[in-house]
Amino acid sequence: MDPRTYYDLTEDSYRALCPVRSGHMNMGLWPQKHLSAAQEALVESVLKFHKALSKTEPNAVIDGGSGWGGSRRFFFHHFPSSSYHGINVSQRQIAVASEANVRIPNTTYHHMDIRDIHALESLRADAFFSIEAAFHFEKKEDLIKSLRQMAVRSVTIADICVEKPEDIAKFPLVQPALRNGWSTRDYELSFRDAGYTLLGSENVSSQVFNGWSDHLFQIDTKNFAGRKRLLEQFRLGFRQMAELADQHVLSYRWFHAEAL
Ligand SMILES: C[S@@+](CC[C@H](N)C(=O)[O-])C[C@H]1O[C@@H](n2cnc3c(N)ncnc32)[C@H](O)[C@@H]1O
Repeated sequence: MDPRTYYDLTEDSYRALCPVRSGHMNMGLWPQKHLSAAQEALVESVLKFHKALSKTEPNAVIDGGSGWGGSRRFFFHHFPSSSYHGINVSQRQIAVASEANVRIPNTTYHHMDIRDIHALESLRADAFFSIEAAFHFEKKEDLIKSLRQMAVRSVTIADICVEKPEDIAKFPLVQPALRNGWSTRDYELSFRDAGYTLLGSENVSSQVFNGWSDHLFQIDTKNFAGRKRLLEQFRLGFRQMAELADQHVLSYRWFHAEAL
């Protein structure tokens, strides 16, 4: 199933997972008291990771796979003078994100597939971020090469990595979602081939998978506003993911690369 169809079918239920409508759709960095705090902690940690390794503030940022727009205010907080460009294949998510961030200046959402990133060349963006979306993207090597051709100086990606693709084949609730997933090694090689230097890679698996999976099991099924069958599938699928992460088949990582 392609990401557009997947999100068309699941986005209402995903939204219902987060009672305060945080505007995020990532798994969160745990432990935290509630989901939105964990999701905010994840975005905040990715931006701090970037700032620790990248010394200059970007002029223009592209956020690949920008979701419901919850991340925008964090980008604004850390880079107040940068323009922000969110890319998303989902028209509905773009509408929600645009409305949620209408008061934040220099904010533009682009309804497009990441594969068409070349269309944004004239923006002269110097930083690319993607938070928990790159596992969806096909042909990430082409994306990384395009970023380099567009003179994007820094690339920061938070992603679910598939370290041993052959070991997820037996898991029908996990394999289709992660079929385009990359290993840490795939990232290392592709950054190098495109002319980027990988300055940092951090494994945060122990703070993500189990916390998110536990959260799903704590949701009160009776009062769940989304589709109950989907909640059940999310629970089983994400518990399998947590188990696969414990076996080092999957990992959750941040990467930061720069064109030096
Ligand atoms: C798990 S969500 C993460 C959203 C957001 N970064 C966050 O942390 O809340 C993945 C996002 O990637 C988007 N996406 C998936 N495939 C895409 C593609 N090929 N091009 C652009 N966006 C895509 C989805 O619509 C969704 O918004």
